[in-house]
Amino acid sequence: MTSESPLLSARLSVDYRNKPGVLKNLCLEIQRGEIVGLVGESGSGKSTLALALLQLLQLKGAKVQGEVVFQGENLLQKKESQLRDIRGRQMSVVLQSPLTSLNPALRIGTQLKEAWRAHANGTGDQCHAAVRAALRSVSLPDSEEFLKRRPSQLSVGQGQRVIIAMAILHRPALLIADEPTSALDTITQSEILSLFARLNRELDMAILYISHDLLSVAALCHRVKGGLSTLNE
Ligand SMILES: Nc1ncnc2c1ncn2[C@@H]1O[C@H](COP(=O)(O)OP(=O)(O)OP(=O)(O)O)[C@@H](O)[C@H]1O
Ligand SMILES: [Mg+2]
Repeated sequence: MTSESPLLSARLSVDYRNKPGVLKNLCLEIQRGEIVGLVGESGSGKSTLALALLQLLQLKGAKVQGEVVFQGENLLQKKESQLRDIRGRQMSVVLQSPLTSLNPALRIGTQLKEAWRAHANGTGDQCHAAVRAALRSVSLPDSEEFLKRRPSQLSVGQGQRVIIAMAILHRPALLIADEPTSALDTITQSEILSLFARLNRELDMAILYISHDLLSVAALCHRVKGGLSTLNE
């Protein structure tokens, strides 16, 4: 792989068992450090694309064909154990409804530490320091009191920041954000958008930003891919 080759280059066709042709030869390229917006009407296959890039669609019984070349390697040819090493470390995801992405029974600190340990070996102190740094980088308190809270003790905006902290713990090269602000009020939405812009700059992290909201896409993204139905042609 040369330094000029894209971070991600995908060409994908996806058929669900009872719904063939959801994506037809869809092509998408993302450069290192780039924020690409993806817009398209409801049902056009945006979340399908996000899950296909992460190699999570096969778990839903979908047939995925084509290639997803990420950092020079085709993920469609990787084993699940190799994919687990990439997901959450080099390619992370933030989903639409923050509070369903967190375990309601576990403290925030416990969940962040588990996410760190999934891809790193280190002492308890190193783990604690990494978790507190991630919380600070998403403008959340890094106090012991905050780490001990459970998801039900957070606002929806705080919950979404915790999810983003979890997604960036290992400084992934690519963050896929699938409608990450749609459950939030407009003020919190704009704060989260500024947060994505700042993380993109500070971590040089590419972002695939999926949204219905053309204004937020125009504000955040360096480049926009149009409706999936036209992309599919
Ligand atoms: N597991 C599944 N089995 C069969 N069809 C599915 C499955 N998941 C999604 N679909 C269908 O695939 C199409 C694309 O769905 P997808 O969720 O990717 O759309 P989307 O663009 O993310 O929509 P939204 O903007 O509403 O989130 C839809 O027609 C949907 O009904
Ligand atoms: Mg969707």
